[in-house]
Amino acid sequence: MRIISTERSQVLAARIAEKLGAPLVETKFTRFPDGEMYLKCGELDDETLIVSSVVDNDMLVQTLLAIDAADQSRNTLVVPYLGYSRQDRRFFPGEPISARAVARALSTGIERAFVVNIHDRSVLDHFGVPTRDVTIAPAVGGYIGDLRLKNPLVLAPDEGATDFAADVAAVGGWDCDHLVKTRLSGEEVRIAPKTVDTAGRDVVIVDDIISTGGTLATAACMLREQGAASIHAACVHGVLTSGAYIRLRAAGVASVVSSDTYENASSFISAANAIATAIREDDHR
Ligand code: R5P
Repeated sequence: MRIISTERSQVLAARIAEKLGAPLVETKFTRFPDGEMYLKCGELDDETLIVSSVVDNDMLVQTLLAIDAADQSRNTLVVPYLGYSRQDRRFFPGEPISARAVARALSTGIERAFVVNIHDRSVLDHFGVPTRDVTIAPAVGGYIGDLRLKNPLVLAPDEGATDFAADVAAVGGWDCDHLVKTRLSGEEVRIAPKTVDTAGRDVVIVDDIISTGGTLATAACMLREQGAASIHAACVHGVLTSGAYIRLRAAGVASVVSSDTYENASSFISAANAIATAIREDDHR
């Protein structure tokens, strides 16, 4: 097996290659004069692993091109971050189910796919090939353990993140709770007042995605008012759009960490081990 990656997944691809002991294939990325994307992969063999987070429209196109470039081999697609996955239903008439559109497009030319902590597992059904959701809750828990907090409370900002928070908390046998969130707009949420016993405690808010930071900033303000000793934030996919990192730090969040599913300067957690393990397990089925 040889491994190729698109431009925004290079670090994670290299880490997965190391875990699997498989060679990386160099790929050149450029554009045609009209702006259309072009790529050229080095020598591939009969099996290719394509590592590509769909972090924006360009990466969606690069993923499609990479799959097509590897059309002479059996292909596995790893999409650590699947953009458009939060539009996973028709909220209003006339809308697309964007997650379905993207999953369908990516399913052509591959034999199987892996995603990481997908926002909603129903999206897996839209892939036309067997697709597995890999969780990095153990890695997030490991990172929290390294913070050496005293008896931290792991908190999910909404009910959707409770299973993930419970899996993270299980790593250290920490307490776990959740808040109740209502989304008001793309950037603003309301979190129902809830007395969580946070006075004097270190709290780590965990979520699958930090996008605008609205969810975690709102939660952090509430926790501060309730007297939390310190507030930390850990997520899988650090989209961190619209100044989210600063928004969180300004809201009193002491540290913000994400994983290399969405590579950025806060990606201190790696999904490589979990992905490599899932691929090996699937190979031995
Ligand atoms: C939504 O349910 C997700 O789990 C995240 O809570 C959400 O995507 C975070 O978005 P933002 O950072 O913009 O509040």
